[in-house]
Amino acid sequence: MASAIIDGMLEQGSCSTDDLLISVSSEASVQRWRAKGVANTQIGASAAFAEADIWVLAVKPQIMEEVLLSYQGYFSSDKLVISVAAGLTVSSLAYFLTDSDDDTELKIIRTMPNTPSLIGEGVIGAYCSTAVTEHERELFNTLFKACGRIDLFEQESMLDAVTGLSGSGIAYVYLFAEALVEGAMALGYDQATAREHAVQTLKGATLMMEQSTDELATLRQSVTSKKGTTEQALRVFQANGLKEIVAAAMLAAHDRAQELATELAPKK
Ligand SMILES: NC(=O)c1ccc[n+]([C@@H]2O[C@H](COP(=O)([O-])OP(=O)(O)OC[C@H]3O[C@@H](n4cnc5c(N)ncnc54)[C@H](OP(=O)(O)O)[C@@H]3O)[C@@H](O)[C@H]2O)c1
Repeated sequence: MASAIIDGMLEQGSCSTDDLLISVSSEASVQRWRAKGVANTQIGASAAFAEADIWVLAVKPQIMEEVLLSYQGYFSSDKLVISVAAGLTVSSLAYFLTDSDDDTELKIIRTMPNTPSLIGEGVIGAYCSTAVTEHERELFNTLFKACGRIDLFEQESMLDAVTGLSGSGIAYVYLFAEALVEGAMALGYDQATAREHAVQTLKGATLMMEQSTDELATLRQSVTSKKGTTEQALRVFQANGLKEIVAAAMLAAHDRAQELATELAPKK
């Protein structure tokens, strides 16, 4: 995820390799970033981080507490902190950064990106702590816009809803694609052609949805003739409660996101 963000920033010219200070955990990654021109790449924390205006946190949520402990000595409340870690709330991050419950002065932007961010087609839901200024919000937009569409929410709890839709939703689409492939094979397709037709069908429908101003239901109705083939197929979906199944799945992802936030919160 960090690579996607950094590559995007560099490609868009929102920063240069000289502006960056990258910390990783392995020598292989140090070499990879140096080969890309980021000379200031190192393993773990160092005093140089005290000079950085913006900290982007992109380690796995489960190790964030342990990692931030080694950076605490270089942290100050004037920094803008941007986290891409799933499930870690602003107050948990603030505690890991300062060992204190007082997060009122801290400027933290918590994001929930999804995997197409890796190809610049992501959805990024974000929440800013109250101390984040308008200028810093714009800065965040500039730095992250290469990853995809960004929406800022006023309520942090909305990031659990973002998880239910775009965060986990990529897997729902993959599952639907798998079902299309399996259904096509039952109708006589070979697997390779079924995959290509399924992906192209999803891509075509996605582009049509993107380019049209019509309601989604209108688009669906426009390909559903009375007594036609599509009508028969959609009847099967409806009879089996497709919309109810999708809503229940999204709620399950949303609820798990809430649980994760509790599990990842500091154990004081
Ligand atoms: N992957 C996704 O699609 C996705 C989507 C949404 C949110 N996220 C969030 O993005 C974050 C990163 O996920 P990921 O999949 O990108 O994980 P990842 O591929 O394992 O990358 C984690 C990075 O953290 C570095 N690291 C580990 N320990 C460190 C330490 N002590 N000091 C400095 N750097 C350290 C690793 O260094 P090395 O390169 O040396 O191993 C690696 O570059 C997670 O919090 C996750 O919740 C990911």
